[in-house]
Amino acid sequence: MSTVDPPDLALWPTLRNLFPLWWEQRRMVALGLACALVFTGLSLLIPVLIQRTIDRAIDGGEKRLLLPTLAAILVVAALRFAFNFARRYATARVGIAVEARLREKLYDAYLTYPRAFYDRHATGEVISRATNDIYPVRYFIGWGVVQALQSVMMLVGAAIVLTSVNARLALYAALAMPPIAVLTYVFAHKVFPISRAVQARKGHLTEASDEAVVGIEMVQAFGREDDVRARFGTRAEAVRAETMRQAGVESRFLPGLIFLPLLGIAAVLYFGGREAIAGTLTIGQFTLFITLLLQLVWPLEALGWIINLGQRATAAASRGFAWLDGIEPLAERPDPAALPDGPLAVRMEGVRFRYGTGSEVLSGVDLEIEPGEIVAVCGATGAGKTSLLNLVPRFYDPSAGRVLLGGVDSRDLALAGLRRSVALVTQKAVLFSVPLRDNLLAARPDADWEEVLAACEAAGVAAFVDGLPDGYDTLIGERGVNLSGGQRQRVALARALIAGARVIVLDDPMSAVDTETERHLVANLRSAVAGRTVLIAGQRLSTVLVADRALVLRDGRIVESGLPQDLIRAGGAFAELFGDEALAA
Ligand SMILES: Nc1ncnc2c1ncn2[C@@H]1O[C@H](COP(=O)(O)OP(=O)(O)OP(=O)(O)O)[C@@H](O)[C@H]1O
Ligand SMILES: [Mg+2]
Repeated sequence: MSTVDPPDLALWPTLRNLFPLWWEQRRMVALGLACALVFTGLSLLIPVLIQRTIDRAIDGGEKRLLLPTLAAILVVAALRFAFNFARRYATARVGIAVEARLREKLYDAYLTYPRAFYDRHATGEVISRATNDIYPVRYFIGWGVVQALQSVMMLVGAAIVLTSVNARLALYAALAMPPIAVLTYVFAHKVFPISRAVQARKGHLTEASDEAVVGIEMVQAFGREDDVRARFGTRAEAVRAETMRQAGVESRFLPGLIFLPLLGIAAVLYFGGREAIAGTLTIGQFTLFITLLLQLVWPLEALGWIINLGQRATAAASRGFAWLDGIEPLAERPDPAALPDGPLAVRMEGVRFRYGTGSEVLSGVDLEIEPGEIVAVCGATGAGKTSLLNLVPRFYDPSAGRVLLGGVDSRDLALAGLRRSVALVTQKAVLFSVPLRDNLLAARPDADWEEVLAACEAAGVAAFVDGLPDGYDTLIGERGVNLSGGQRQRVALARALIAGARVIVLDDPMSAVDTETERHLVANLRSAVAGRTVLIAGQRLSTVLVADRALVLRDGRIVESGLPQDLIRAGGAFAELFGDEALAA
């Protein structure tokens, strides 16, 4: 049984996941590294040229050498500029590409995740893991990795140059290195858990802000602003406190990385100065030591930053990869069974169902729906109607028992095929932010327009489409026209009719329309769904009456089944639900 909330990955598994993405960019990485290598070589060359100038032209009096060496230094500096530019460009591209791929992978994965995943995670969290969370990855992969290697090249190069000039002095200069290594190690160790905590807190914050935005109507209507602000404030405070802790560690350790190299310079100043006075070291060589060591300050500091950045990046990536690695889409058989032709029967055998670890919602449902039959699923609110209907398109799998379509276990069918065969109107109609026409055609883009118009007539869309600014071409959704709840439901109903599916699942499809409209819809629905198997959940008798047969869910079981009229007369659970309405009618 796969989990929908796996823990963040540890460091190594994270890197193992990151590596292939980085490797995809190997050509750009190679270009960046080559540029870094040339850049390092040129950087080392400049102090050497300066040393030559001092020793031969200034100290040695060969005045004619001054201009040529100056020219050489200028050329080298210009080349270095060009290579630096190319390196930055190449590495930035790598970072951006890896970030984009990671986002793409997450988003692709999101599309396959089971509904249980979305029950467990807030929208804000899901979105931020694929967006904000992965920015550090871009900077680390893009800039950090190559810069770190360049720092190492610079260190090694400087060590080689200095040792070849004066090994003993080079050793003195290197005395600062062990403490730098210790400092870097301790820093990395301290900052890693904090980086993870910061990332997690940021996730919580996004979650809170998202809830407030999505639910803004209710927040304003019930005057919950203070409450929301307080919730947001608490989480923002947690982010602030954790980030401050991070900044504290950074400010204690990073300056050390600038300070310690200066100890090396001090050592050179003292010991090198003595040798220069004694004449065993030329002024040019002395200057070479000082300039090269000064040039090492930034690469060393950069290493500290990169370790920091690497911690943030891996902390962020570990969250995304945890999902990519740990969450399984609904299992599909490699050799799926095929559905029979013609109208499909729907069967449930001993179906039990619970959400996650919650209490049981369905506890043994047996149900047989003939091909082409219309069955109403009734029950008090919270009885499990929606849960039962959601098993048909396999949004969830039952915890026990089987759901069969056309005699085939739904788990043996290809998911795409199953979903094509089941059209759905959800309890809360969801439309896409595209023109009305495309919403209607969402499930079957090549549907015949005559058929679409007929479905719109039956579903009551035709009744209001003329009032829309652009008729069937009206843009729906946040940036277009916001349809009313009832209009939305009718579009969803028409869309399901147009889908051409052999099974239609209607979850309370008329809850938001007025009784007059409902009567019109009910009158048309039977002929519109002729030959198809229909499950319809309803809270109103007028909706339920469209069915051939009604079932009543109570305590997770079907307690009654029969013709609606008969059930009313029987005076059982069904009559309890709809009795008053029946009397009124
Ligand atoms: N995504 C979910 N995660 C956890 N529990 C859920 C989820 N959806 C529903 N439930 C719980 O399952 C039970 C049945 O809910 P369901 O939505 O199936 O009822 P319903 O009969 O459709 O109600 P209504 O008539 O109000 O639509 C309820 O107790 C509800 O709290
Ligand atoms: Mg429901």
